[in-house]
Amino acid sequence: MHVLVTGGAGFIGSHIVTYHMDRGDNVHVVDNLLTGSLDNIAQYSDNSNFRFDEADILIWPDLDKAVSWADRIYHMAGVVGIFKVIEEPTRVLATNIAGSERVLRFVRDSGWNPVILMASSSEVYGTSGRSTLDEERTLVVTPDVNSRWNYAISKMADEALGLSFVQKYGLRISILRIFNVIGSRQMGQYGMVVPRFIQQAVSSEPVTVYGDGTQTRSFCDVRDAVVMFDKLAENPSANGQIVNVGKDEEISIQALAELIIERANSSSKIVHVSYEDAYGEGFVDVRRRKPDLKKLFKLIKYKLQWSLERTIDDLIAEQRAKSSEGKKEG
Ligand SMILES: NC(=O)c1ccc[n+]([C@@H]2O[C@H](COP(=O)([O-])OP(=O)(O)OC[C@H]3O[C@@H](n4cnc5c(N)ncnc54)[C@H](O)[C@@H]3O)[C@@H](O)[C@H]2O)c1
Repeated sequence: MHVLVTGGAGFIGSHIVTYHMDRGDNVHVVDNLLTGSLDNIAQYSDNSNFRFDEADILIWPDLDKAVSWADRIYHMAGVVGIFKVIEEPTRVLATNIAGSERVLRFVRDSGWNPVILMASSSEVYGTSGRSTLDEERTLVVTPDVNSRWNYAISKMADEALGLSFVQKYGLRISILRIFNVIGSRQMGQYGMVVPRFIQQAVSSEPVTVYGDGTQTRSFCDVRDAVVMFDKLAENPSANGQIVNVGKDEEISIQALAELIIERANSSSKIVHVSYEDAYGEGFVDVRRRKPDLKKLFKLIKYKLQWSLERTIDDLIAEQRAKSSEGKKEG
């Protein structure tokens, strides 16, 4: 199978690459390395089944050829991470909306009909309610001073674009509302909580919990997520559907910090930082984000393989290896 991964040098994208390379598929990555890294795909650089183009999906002249080569497209490219979203409010909207539109338009024009998986996000649920989030719920986001919701707005626009290309042109698209995926290669510097806590705990620095820590999240290991993506792609009934993808176990951010400190056997202390200090004035956090996975598990059969503790242990081991590597080099 020919697999195109936009954003394939990023965190989730590079795990999709590994998944398909392990299956002997031909994989083509296009990524402008905004938040992605060549290190994430370096192991395939000499593999004849693999091709990488450092390019921006907004302007890359060969995007039409790349999409018409593919049997399956994972559209993962996007401006991601809360700090990047606040820092680059216009880029978020431009890349995430215009980039997706360009990918879909070239697929339509190619006359070829690959299966497309588009990355949306649980952020589209905004601050909505305290209950478990299902795909039928009305989406509400409120404009605010620091553009935090531009990312959600861009993903809502992508969802609408995706559904309109299904309806109008018969494209085969599934929209993935991804909930807090974690794992190896995720970076903390753009605001992702787990890599930040792991790095702080392993280096015995204070672990910085934003807000009072009672807010909850539901984390899913990326190695489970990519299998679920593949299973959705294989089911024609997922075509034209918006589907939550994640894990429905919930943990408070305070408990997460404590768990990471305990598993790392770290002397780190927890320090609370106000949202204002962390993200700037007027920031609104989401209290709870737990997916309803009924629709997902109607479409696929899959038992999640990775517990939060296992994922954390793997990440701690990886961070320790990185730190001792750094010390040797230094
Ligand atoms: N990680 C999560 O928990 C999560 C949750 C919800 C949704 N998502 C979505 O999944 C996708 C992948 O996210 P991720 O966590 O791997 O983030 P990531 O930042 O690691 O990956 C995004 C990739 O897109 C690339 N990119 C950005 N702009 C581009 C452009 N114009 N042209 C080409 N490449 C470009 C980046 O360089 C990066 O490699 C994103 O669309 C994101 O919105 C992720």
